[in-house]
Amino acid sequence: MIVWLKIIHISAVSVWMAGLVSLPGLYVQRAHVVDKDALYRLQRMVRFSYVALISPAAFLAVGSGIGLIFAREVFVTWMSAKLALVGALVLAHTFAGLVIIRLFGEGEVYPVWRFLLGTGVVLALIGGVLFLVLAKPDIDISSLLPDGMSEPGALKRILAPLNPWATP
Ligand code: HEM
Repeated sequence: MIVWLKIIHISAVSVWMAGLVSLPGLYVQRAHVVDKDALYRLQRMVRFSYVALISPAAFLAVGSGIGLIFAREVFVTWMSAKLALVGALVLAHTFAGLVIIRLFGEGEVYPVWRFLLGTGVVLALIGGVLFLVLAKPDIDISSLLPDGMSEPGALKRILAPLNPWATP
């Protein structure tokens, strides 16, 4: 069962990530279309990739990942850090979708700096996720947080000087 979940997860993640990396490369082609035919061909390809391939792969990756969390019982800090990076990838996915809505309007282009920035950010996030999931670093979160964050009842002690009803 776990093996199948992992196969589904890694396959879906591969399609999703390949899509997020390559979409800005397709968007930047908008500046080079010569006629309406080429514009519609590019638009059809981009929409099909986003709607029929990349977005379903994203749902499958997240769904199988959630299944794996419970199957493998990975309730650990590196997993929380991985989910934070995956959240940023989901945002990148949403922004990529918003671009498609405007990109094929009259006179629109996708500047090269956005292509470089978008691709760079997505590659950095993927690198971060792969590092966390493969190295599984032992992150000691309590040393990064202020004292008292992991102490039961600490808020009462911290706020005691401000509380007129606190018993001495
Ligand atoms: C909400 C999204 C995701 C969730 C909930 C999730 C969750 C998980 C879980 C629980 C595992 C099993 C970990 C283990 O067996 O120790 C796993 C494995 C893995 N995930 Fe994800 N994941 C998500 C997205 C991603 C993304 C976006 C990537 C790549 C960029 C990714 C790459 C991997 C890889 C490579 C493995 C295999 C690691 C191994 O077997 O050692 N995951 N994921």
